[in-house]
Amino acid sequence: MAEQVTVDVNQAEGVLETERVQGLEQASGTCNTIEAQRVEAEQVEAEQVKVERVEVKHAVDAENAFDAEEDLGKEGAFEPVIVGFLCNWCSYAGADLAGTSRLSYPTNLRVIRVMCSGRVDPGLMLEPFLSAADGVMVLGCHPADCHYMTGNYQAEQRVLCVKALLAHLGIASGRLYLDWVSAAEGARFAELVAEFTNQVKKLGPAGCGESQEGLSREEFIRRVRVAKRVCEKEKFRWLVGRRKALLEEENVYGEKLQAGKFNDLMSFVITEECLRAAIELLAEEGPISCKEIAEVLGMPAGKVLEHTAYLKRAGLLELHDVRGQSPRYVALR
Ligand code: FES
Repeated sequence: MAEQVTVDVNQAEGVLETERVQGLEQASGTCNTIEAQRVEAEQVEAEQVKVERVEVKHAVDAENAFDAEEDLGKEGAFEPVIVGFLCNWCSYAGADLAGTSRLSYPTNLRVIRVMCSGRVDPGLMLEPFLSAADGVMVLGCHPADCHYMTGNYQAEQRVLCVKALLAHLGIASGRLYLDWVSAAEGARFAELVAEFTNQVKKLGPAGCGESQEGLSREEFIRRVRVAKRVCEKEKFRWLVGRRKALLEEENVYGEKLQAGKFNDLMSFVITEECLRAAIELLAEEGPISCKEIAEVLGMPAGKVLEHTAYLKRAGLLELHDVRGQSPRYVALR
């Protein structure tokens, strides 16, 4: 009897063990299902995040593409380079005030600080045009406020004469500008820069066929170099320096020179000196005959011969050789 009970107990234990194992297996299966569902949910979430990221990327790309298109549009618009000579005591302080007052003005201006507008030599006014500037501003103290007494008056005379020179050479005189700004006129400084920038924009890029002058870059540079050389000539400099005195002061006979007469005189000097400067520049490139110079400049050969002889007498040209029957000259610089 006792043996039978033992067998039953063993059987019962076997059944219990089987059920426990089955229960564990079931539980394990349920856990696996939950784990699989969790993994699946994570995958879906990751997929959604991925899709969102792609959408954001597309949006950013589209925005960038839009910005790029805008930039391209800006590139198409002409933004002139403007060089400004600002006197230290007034105009530069005015520009400083515009900056500290957070006034906005075009960023086209590149500032060069000089002690006085009277320190800007005519040749210096032209120098920026050789370095891709489209316009040049000279800003000084108001009349009677110059810290060196007459510097701004001298600057005024120079600018007037250089404008006449530019006009003679077919370069828009509007590319050069003179005005006065005091240390307290930050707003005026910003306005002048904006106005001049617009003025130069209307003229177009310097040395571009589409500009108002219609000159190629090469021809523009050649003419500016001629103008610069004229600014070194004694006759031109004398007239520039004496302009105010000749027009406003009486001579020993109580006479004043009329503006018209002065302009005629200046025009004559500019015409002569431009031709001589052009000949000099050509002769600096290498030996050249009068006939060749006349062809390049489109001038009568007789006129060129006359000025070549003058330059030779002045010690600026010398005979290099004779080719065929044509003497060739070189510059002595
Ligand atoms: S100091 Fe300003 S123009 Fe002479």
